[in-house]
Amino acid sequence: MQKLLVTGGAGFIGSNFVHYVLERTEDSVTVLDKLTYAGNVDSLKGLPEERFQFVQGDISDAELVDRLVEDCDVVVHYAAESHNDNSLHDPRPFLDTNIIGTYTLIEAARKHGKRFHHISTDEVYGDLELDDPERFTEATPYNPSSPYSSTKAGSDLLVRAWVRSFGLQATISNCSNNYGPYQHVEKFIPRQITNVIDGIRPKLYGKGENVRDWIHANDHSSAVLAIIEKGRIGETYLIGADGEKNNKDVVELILKHMGQSPDAYDHVVDRPGHDLRYAIDSSKLRDELGWQPQYSNFDAGIEATIDWYRDNESWWRPQKAATEAKYKEQGQ
Ligand code: NAD
Ligand code: DAU
Repeated sequence: MQKLLVTGGAGFIGSNFVHYVLERTEDSVTVLDKLTYAGNVDSLKGLPEERFQFVQGDISDAELVDRLVEDCDVVVHYAAESHNDNSLHDPRPFLDTNIIGTYTLIEAARKHGKRFHHISTDEVYGDLELDDPERFTEATPYNPSSPYSSTKAGSDLLVRAWVRSFGLQATISNCSNNYGPYQHVEKFIPRQITNVIDGIRPKLYGKGENVRDWIHANDHSSAVLAIIEKGRIGETYLIGADGEKNNKDVVELILKHMGQSPDAYDHVVDRPGHDLRYAIDSSKLRDELGWQPQYSNFDAGIEATIDWYRDNESWWRPQKAATEAKYKEQGQ
């Protein structure tokens, strides 16, 4: 039985992990979340009160962080500014949260000698050509493209340095693109689903050839739990479920499941510096820790995700108009 401090636990993946852990273990969880535009306490409904508490606050608030880290056994660090498009228009919050926030947390974990798990992204490795037979591994050199991915890369390097220089008891995971319920409508899949619900045609950046390696958020959570329980200190583990798909195919699948014609979408202006392809080789995680993804049927996963957005309009509706207004300003 452990006390986990989960940062960013009101976001998409952090809230999935909180539900996952409280359902499957006897652990207790404190969530530290600033509730930015991306955080939503409604994603944390129905949790056992005796094993869960929520603290609203900033991971860069050293005094608050010190107190909460002292009081836990393990820090699981999800909090971040997470959206590439936002980082291209206003990079500063990405530096504040992803770099300074991570620094604040690892300083507290070092001082109190606490186990630390850092959640990161495959985007730190840059991108691959469409026909490249290689995939990212733990040995791929860092080569981030966007303000978002460069700040995540910076945060990974801080954690690695704290392990080597100060003996921080840390692990890192770099995961590919997640999908599933409770994802903010700014992101690709929920944006297109909620657009179709609203009678708006899906928006594909550029030609739609870019490839992402999709994984269900539940599979990300099971992998993180395995790393916390069995991962070797100082190691990095890549998390992926062999889910490569190009964006055009994903939009066509959404349209099919929502009863629309397969060409009922628009091409819009491309994202500057748009990474072409991500692909993860997760052999280390599978071989060393025995992890396997459980949600390998993308078609069924998308259908269930569409149903969730249809059934939970009250969760996403308040975010939708402002999100689309921002995209409209950018011609996207
Ligand atoms: P999200 O944007 O849905 O949620 C981020 C959460 O962090 C929100 O609840 C927000 O309120 C909180 N937060 C932001 N700044 C904060 C601060 N200064 N202090 C405290 N809380 C703050 O993000 P997500 O998609 O759930 O991503 C979570 C983590 O997983 C991030 O570290 C991201 O880099 C990583 N990741 C995401 C994906 C993906 O596909 N979404 C894939 C790999 C890794
Ligand atoms: O790879 C992991 C990363 O995946 C995470 O680190 C990030 O936090 C997460 O946001 C995600 O980054 P992407 O930039 O890949 O995700 P996004 O949902 O923004 O876009 C997915 C793809 O779809 C990308 O190629 C851009 C494209 N796209 C996106 C939107 C919002 C469109 O074609 N149209 C759109 O409207």
